[in-house]
Amino acid sequence: MTFKPAAWPRKLRSQTWFGGTEKDNIYYRGWMKNQGFPPDLFDGRPVIGILNTWSELTPCNAHLNDLAQRVKHGIYEAGGFPVEVPVFSTSESAFRPTAMMFRNLAAMAVEEQMRGQPMDGCVLLVGCDKTTPSLLMAAASTDLPSIIVTGGPMLNGYYKNERVGSGTHLWKFSEAVKAGTMTKEEFVEAEASMSRSPGSCNTMGTASTMASMAEALGMALSGNAAIPAVDSRRRVMAQLTGRRIVQMVKDDLKPSDVLKKEAFENAIRTNAAIGGSTNAVIHLLAIAGRVGVDLTLEDWDRCGRDVPTIVNLMPSGKYLMEEFFYAGGLPVVIKRLGEAGVLHKDALTVSGESMWDQVKDVVNHNPDVILPASKALTQSGGVVVLKGNLAPKGAVLKPSAATPALMVHRGRAVVFENIDDYKARINDEALDIDETCIMVLKNCGPKGYPGMAEVGNMGLPPKVLRRGITDMVRISDARMSGTAYGTVVLHTSPEAAAGGPLAVVQNGDVIELDVPNRRLHLDVSDAVLAARLAKWAPTHVQAESGYLWLHQQNVQGADTGADLGFLKGCRGNPVGKDSH
Ligand code: FES
Repeated sequence: MTFKPAAWPRKLRSQTWFGGTEKDNIYYRGWMKNQGFPPDLFDGRPVIGILNTWSELTPCNAHLNDLAQRVKHGIYEAGGFPVEVPVFSTSESAFRPTAMMFRNLAAMAVEEQMRGQPMDGCVLLVGCDKTTPSLLMAAASTDLPSIIVTGGPMLNGYYKNERVGSGTHLWKFSEAVKAGTMTKEEFVEAEASMSRSPGSCNTMGTASTMASMAEALGMALSGNAAIPAVDSRRRVMAQLTGRRIVQMVKDDLKPSDVLKKEAFENAIRTNAAIGGSTNAVIHLLAIAGRVGVDLTLEDWDRCGRDVPTIVNLMPSGKYLMEEFFYAGGLPVVIKRLGEAGVLHKDALTVSGESMWDQVKDVVNHNPDVILPASKALTQSGGVVVLKGNLAPKGAVLKPSAATPALMVHRGRAVVFENIDDYKARINDEALDIDETCIMVLKNCGPKGYPGMAEVGNMGLPPKVLRRGITDMVRISDARMSGTAYGTVVLHTSPEAAAGGPLAVVQNGDVIELDVPNRRLHLDVSDAVLAARLAKWAPTHVQAESGYLWLHQQNVQGADTGADLGFLKGCRGNPVGKDSH
């Protein structure tokens, strides 16, 4: 930790708008005063943007206006000037074709909102899956002092006295209906139990994972990730975050001071310990790309490989975020990494303290929720990175959500050319498939779907489910919801729509998955593979205009974070010219 706080007082960037008596200063201040702000708020104190991803069509974030008020209290208490700014909100549950297609658009829009307006620092008020990485990417690219506070997870769901996890039980119940062990009426009745309170998914899905990643990166106050959305302590966290950002601006503590390679390695190991979402791979690679940290897929395998999954939460385990909070939450997990000697203890956090200083005294209150290493869900919890002639640039698999018996498997490929082909044929009783086969789905990567939808955990064919089989090996260039499970190979790169070898897999080909040796192999000769690739032509829909065109023209591979190429890197926060 080598951070040295800047001298205070000094002139802040917001003063180039609000300070002085020139015509332009009067113009900027005058307009703001129509909201009834007293003159002393423009006296050079830190102006803090509360970047609020509230939206009624982002239900996971629909309670954020309440938290924004708490953040404001904190900012005022610390002597800052809070301004609430609505920003692009990406809902995982409602945005079509997939919220992921808009993560980069949101990041681009928010970056310009941060840079182009009179803000000295920002509170990133987020929750649903893509809102967290998109705002972190924007903060990394502007390098304005920034701190995250998330909306927090929903309370536990229950149906017929059984815990119901967001997403996880949607897949489970849906497959139970297909298998004939649950009626459609029960499925509809269970719907109300799935989202019982305000907040984000209550499983260790992508939202909880990204809240945990923000905390493990050092970009949120310690303990933020697990506090339930409706717990009064979530409001306290919001208020404390508001207080803290004011001091961060005075100290000039920026994202680039926190987001070092060590911080990303801490986050990768934390993701392994919590059994976090594979989506974290793409998001952390993209955030690292914005701040200029050289993070690779290989870092995920190297850092996570020997870290046991000790958080017993769905989809890998049995509890939910509410119980994780009662057990002590993420600080307990980070402390365990430190005790195991795999934490960069000195990593700086937005609190100004080192990561270790924040967690060293916390206590685990429930060893059935945060398990001892000897009882870990899996001893190698990290995201596995597979390579081979089917994935020259890599593919990922989450062992804690997979079936151990399928980790080494050789099977006949049953190929679906795209998601529509899969939907059209999967329920066909005549489909030539059994549990030894490997399901292959093409054209669902960043360009192909487009946006890389969470369809990699394809549901199994009903005739297999009816025989009590719950898992098969599945391979695609898609993503998978963090709430999902199965022996699912994801993010296969290069994707089919970019002419990767996945594009030329044929029905009946034999594929080998060998997780211990990190191998994904299509059992055809090099000559046959080359001949097929030479004849390949794209079949996915290609846009000719609009954002979709911009996305397809510029999106990078999943192996580097699926950012738009021209958005990589930090562009800082120059104040620009007066325009009046
Ligand atoms: Fe928004 Fe899960 S769908 S957090």
